[in-house]
Amino acid sequence: MKPIRIETERLTIRPHEAADFDAYFAYIMDPELQDMLGLHGVTDRTSAWETFQWLRENTIFLALVPKDSSQTLGHIALHPPYERLAGDPALKELTGLSLSFAVARSERRKRLMFEALSALIQELFAHRGIDFLDCETEPRNVACRALQEKLGFSFWGTDRFGDTELLIHLLKK
Ligand SMILES: CC(C)(COP(=O)(O)OP(=O)(O)OC[C@H]1O[C@@H](n2cnc3c(N)ncnc32)[C@H](O)[C@@H]1OP(=O)(O)O)[C@@H](O)C(=O)NCCC(=O)NCCS
Repeated sequence: MKPIRIETERLTIRPHEAADFDAYFAYIMDPELQDMLGLHGVTDRTSAWETFQWLRENTIFLALVPKDSSQTLGHIALHPPYERLAGDPALKELTGLSLSFAVARSERRKRLMFEALSALIQELFAHRGIDFLDCETEPRNVACRALQEKLGFSFWGTDRFGDTELLIHLLKK
């Protein structure tokens, strides 16, 4: 896919560059944020750098950059669709992506992620050949669940890893 670059009212959404690492490191070491993202192996600058580079190399790893600063305040990563969705006949022949995302704690509840995801979803559906998006969340992640609902995602099913239950939500074009 051609690199994504989107301008919204308050943000530029563009691929992460190596120079964005310090800003990423500043918000990714928040234990609650890591917990919600399932990032349990990120404990220091070296492991954060490995994760940052892995995301750059293996996903479409977008930075959310406020227009009044060059410091990224969050990210959206686009991964291949969640594996279990491959068994859904309604999604056969369709092209999908899976979303994960985070905003620095100090920047939350300003509708920045809603602004970023609304614009990105429009771009993916209208211009990038994407037919559906999925997002996986633990039931206790109230913020993420409410955000998905506001964006129009609907419940698809659940999955379980040991003690962890995941809710799978889906948004179709
Ligand atoms: C989930 C997360 C990305 C939301 O980002 P945000 O920029 O604060 O969200 P927004 O301000 O755009 O909120 C949009 C809507 O989401 C819902 N929402 C966001 N945070 C919420 C919260 N703490 N409690 C309840 N609803 C919430 C609301 O419906 C809100 O709409 P409103 O402003 O009209 O009430 C952020 O809380 C975060 O980074 N959490 C940690 C990482 C994470 O959980 N990522 C998702 C896993 S895939």
